[in-house]
Amino acid sequence: MDKTRSDFPLKDYYSDIYSTYDRVNRLFTFGKDVTWRRKAARACLRSDPSSVLDLCTGTGDFILEVARLSAPSGKYPLLTGYDFSTAMLEEARRKTDLISKGEQIPPVTFTEGDVAVMPFKKGSFDAVGITFGIRNLVYENSHAAKHLAEIYRVLRKGGRFIILESCKPENRIWRFFHNFYLRFILPYLGGLISGNTKAYRYLAKSSREYYTITEMVAMLEGAGFGIVSGRLLFMGSVMLLEAEKK
Ligand SMILES: C[S@@+](CC[C@H](N)C(=O)[O-])C[C@H]1O[C@@H](n2cnc3c(N)ncnc32)[C@H](O)[C@@H]1O
Repeated sequence: MDKTRSDFPLKDYYSDIYSTYDRVNRLFTFGKDVTWRRKAARACLRSDPSSVLDLCTGTGDFILEVARLSAPSGKYPLLTGYDFSTAMLEEARRKTDLISKGEQIPPVTFTEGDVAVMPFKKGSFDAVGITFGIRNLVYENSHAAKHLAEIYRVLRKGGRFIILESCKPENRIWRFFHNFYLRFILPYLGGLISGNTKAYRYLAKSSREYYTITEMVAMLEGAGFGIVSGRLLFMGSVMLLEAEKK
C-alpha cells in the first residue's frame, strides 16, 4: 500500500475539527501547549525579525503569541499566518478580532494556501515558524521535499526557521506511557469531543510515529538548513528546533 499522503483527506480533517481544536489541545497537553508555543515565539523574536510567517497556522495560536510578545516593543513586525483550511483560518481571524478588541497587538494577515506552492517571493520573510504542523508536511508525505524547498525559498538568507513538534521520546519507560496515551486515549477522547475519531486517530498516530530530534535535524540539514539550536520539552515528547537558511 502506498503510505504517502498526497491523496489523504487532511484538509477535510482539519476543517472538521476547527471548532474544538483549541479545547482538545489544552486538555490533552494539560495546558502545556500554550507554554511551548510561547517558548517558540520567544525563539522566533530573538533575531528581531521584521516579518514572520507562521506556516500551518491553524487557529493562529503561534502567530498570535508572536503578536502579543512583540507588542510591548512597539516595533510591529509584519505577521502572516498561512494554512490551507478555510475553516481553521476563519477561526484564527475570529480569535484575532476578539484579542484585538482587548489588547493592542500588531495586525496579523491570514492567507489561505498550500505550503507546497506559496504565493510569496523568494526571501520574503526574516523568520518562519511552524508549530505542530511540520509532521503534516513531511511524515509519510510524498510532497515532503517540495514543502521543505518552498520553506527554504520564502525565508531570507540568514533567516530563522523555528519548529515546535511532537517527538519520539528516547527514554523507553516514558515512551511506553507516551505511546499508550497516544494509542488508547487521545484518538477516542479527541474523537468524542470533536466528533471526528478518524482525524484524531491520524493526529495521534502521526505524533506517535514521528521522528526523533536527531532524525529531524538530519532532514533539515538535508534540505539545506543549518541547525542553530535544539531542545527537548516535556521529557522528550516535544522538540523545539531553531534552524537558519545558510
Ligand atoms: C496540527 S494543526 C497545527 C495548528 C497550529 N499551528 C498549532 O500550533 O496548533 C496543522 C495545520 O496544518 C494545516 N496544514 C496541513 N498541511 C498543510 C499544507 N500542505 N499546506 C497548508 N496548511 C497545511 C492544517 O490545515 C492545520 O490547520
